[in-house]
Amino acid sequence: MRVLGIETSCDETGVAIYDGELGLMAHALYSQAHIHAEYGGVVPEIASRDHVRKLLPLLDDCLRQAGCKRSDLDGVAYTSGPGLIGALLVGAASGRAIALSLGVPAVAVHHMEGHLLAPLLEADPPEFPFVALLVSGGHSMLVEVRRIGEYRVLGETLDDAAGEAFDKTAKLLGLGYPGGPVVARAAESGDPDKYRFPRPMTDRPGLEFSFSGLKTHTRNLWNNHSGEENAQADIAAGFQKAVVETMVIKCRRAMQETRSSQLVIAGGVGANLQLREALSRAGEKYGWGVSYPRIEFCTDNGAMIALAGYHRLLAGESEPKVIRARPRWPMKELDPLPTAEGQV
Ligand code: KG4
Ligand code: ZN
Repeated sequence: MRVLGIETSCDETGVAIYDGELGLMAHALYSQAHIHAEYGGVVPEIASRDHVRKLLPLLDDCLRQAGCKRSDLDGVAYTSGPGLIGALLVGAASGRAIALSLGVPAVAVHHMEGHLLAPLLEADPPEFPFVALLVSGGHSMLVEVRRIGEYRVLGETLDDAAGEAFDKTAKLLGLGYPGGPVVARAAESGDPDKYRFPRPMTDRPGLEFSFSGLKTHTRNLWNNHSGEENAQADIAAGFQKAVVETMVIKCRRAMQETRSSQLVIAGGVGANLQLREALSRAGEKYGWGVSYPRIEFCTDNGAMIALAGYHRLLAGESEPKVIRARPRWPMKELDPLPTAEGQV
């Protein structure tokens, strides 16, 4: 089965073709980040309009890369949510229309399930069951993954997501957008121990995250020390270290609680090299396998949606001929995937 994947939930237009036998045949990505950078964050209306402009050319590009025609596609998977409603509608309406025109099924994919399964695109995929640290611009959660389609959320953020905290810190320090990569770059020349940062919610049991206190702490530090030499880099480094160490502590707890031996890191913040290194070190120390997707599949892309959609279509899932865009779609409400025996 050959599946077209479409991702338009935020500011990246992603298209990919995944084949059950050949694997990932093609993927194409267009990031709007430079357009939104001028405004310091994503402008939803601009995002939707740009998806309209870029989606079909990217599809043609993918078909060329894969050396196939639209009629070779057996199904279409599109991100149905969560995300920006206008942006989601572009992918949902286009995906549904392409499926209808080809007479093939379409399937609505949960964006976070896409992130969660992205490591399976790699040559050495993790084995089930595993615990996933899912950290993106809109979500931070720890999820127990027993098999594809069977997820148990172990803990979530109570306020800001990790990526959001990076974005807000970057804005505060005048570093630009998107925040993750620019904070990470600034941190390279900073001393992470120059200022003291809290490790939020690590002093009590539980797998919840909270990053808004860290944001306030960062703002206070910046207000008091912005005149000092190298303050921007030192604060960026201290903030990054606090986020990374907090996540390592929470991951260790999640691994202990689930008695799991395989950890997966996914989502945009999973592109953070300090986080990848710290979790790999923890894996060596505590005997876990640690895997993550290549950097370009940590952030939004069409390949992860094509892969998740492939597995849902393979399990017999397809949706009625409607356009489904769900800006808020808690992962807990995601339908479990039927097993081969037809049970959920
Ligand atoms: O998964 P993603 O592309 O989109 C969402 O689903 O939200 O994640 C985007 C988030 C942004 O907040 C961005 O600042 C963050 O991922 N990010 C990073 C890095 N690269 C992207 N955060 C920390 N370090 C990075 N290198
Ligand atoms: Zn994402």
